[in-house]
Amino acid sequence: MIDVLVVGAGFGRDFLPLYQLHPEVARVGLVEPDAARRRATADAFGLDADYEDLDSALASGTWDAVHLLSPVRFHVEQTLAVLDSGRACASAVPMATELDDIARVVEAASGASGAYMMMETALYQREFLHALHLRDTGALGRLGYLSGAHIQDLDGYAPYWMGYPPMRYATHVIAPLLALADARVESVTCLGSGELLPLHRGDGTNPYPIESALMRLSTEAPLTAQVTVSFFENARSYQEGFNVYGDRGALEWPSVEGDAAIVYSAGPADGARGGRGIRREEVHAPDRTDSLPAALAPFTRDGRYRPPGGRPEVTVHASHGGSHPHLVHEFVSAVVDGREPAIGARRAATITAPGIVAHESAMQGGRMLEVPAY
Ligand SMILES: NC(=O)c1ccc[n+]([C@@H]2O[C@H](COP(=O)([O-])OP(=O)(O)OC[C@H]3O[C@@H](n4cnc5c(N)ncnc54)[C@H](O)[C@@H]3O)[C@@H](O)[C@H]2O)c1
Repeated sequence: MIDVLVVGAGFGRDFLPLYQLHPEVARVGLVEPDAARRRATADAFGLDADYEDLDSALASGTWDAVHLLSPVRFHVEQTLAVLDSGRACASAVPMATELDDIARVVEAASGASGAYMMMETALYQREFLHALHLRDTGALGRLGYLSGAHIQDLDGYAPYWMGYPPMRYATHVIAPLLALADARVESVTCLGSGELLPLHRGDGTNPYPIESALMRLSTEAPLTAQVTVSFFENARSYQEGFNVYGDRGALEWPSVEGDAAIVYSAGPADGARGGRGIRREEVHAPDRTDSLPAALAPFTRDGRYRPPGGRPEVTVHASHGGSHPHLVHEFVSAVVDGREPAIGARRAATITAPGIVAHESAMQGGRMLEVPAY
């Protein structure tokens, strides 16, 4: 059994019940600097402890594992502090926003006694798990092209999102593409697109609301991925998805989140006409809950949870394709078993670095740049 500390009560709130329900977790605590929010969250969930800041939680001498869900700018220093304290550390994406900081985390994780995991929701979404199944059963054939887009309108979000370089948050698209291709990004060219309105410019260092990149993958046969991230000035509803194209079959992300994915399969070439017959099928990807503890399995979908001590029920949101229980179970299991988590530091670096280099390419007018190997 382990004790888990959740840091940040925004997105972090969705993870508190999952840790409380996990059969290998004994105590659950919270770090949250906003006093009113901290009090309300600790009361609503009946948490075992709460702290104003991470330092005092780490100084308490308790807690085996820490899950960071603080704003992006804190991820690196908080990760280093957690690993340095000898505890396991899970971090919300992105791992870092600079190559130097990726290197610092990779180095710290390689010498640490506690595990590191980047909590990439896209690697446990039901559509991704279905695409993996199609690939592994041969239904896609040989891959020829991949693409994906993360489109989110950040108008009205916290000030730190204003002017945020879109490609420095590209992990949700890059992660599934690299996993499907079993590859890393060798080089990237990227262009910025659109124009940020003055109220969205932040510190003014990034001029682009949208960035679109072409990535050369490390596969033996040439394979290209096109990745777009769009944060402002785009009247398209939310999407965080990918498409994968093979010579036998393909999967396209639902054009509206929550709708059916489209799966294509090619008939045999019969020489009688131009182009093979291509079948198109709408598919609702199944939830793959076999690997989850029974208490967590229902929470791949929105659900209700009754916290300890007879407290009133709360809603648990199952956004991001039902991935949250899988992430929690993988992190907790890795810590309990003393093994590397599925998304350890080098894999996290391999997923995070291409977007950072892509933004640099966009700032250099689209120059093709090499991406470090980890
Ligand atoms: N699909 C995904 O993987 C996904 C989705 C949403 C958010 N995220 C990531 O999760 C993190 C949290 O997102 P959010 O929307 O809740 O952010 P947020 O800006 O709402 O902040 C979350 C909480 O962290 C608290 N906080 C601020 N500074 C802190 C500090 N120094 N230490 C501890 N807590 C601090 C804030 O008071 C707030 O309650 C972000 O890094 C975001 O990028 C990932």
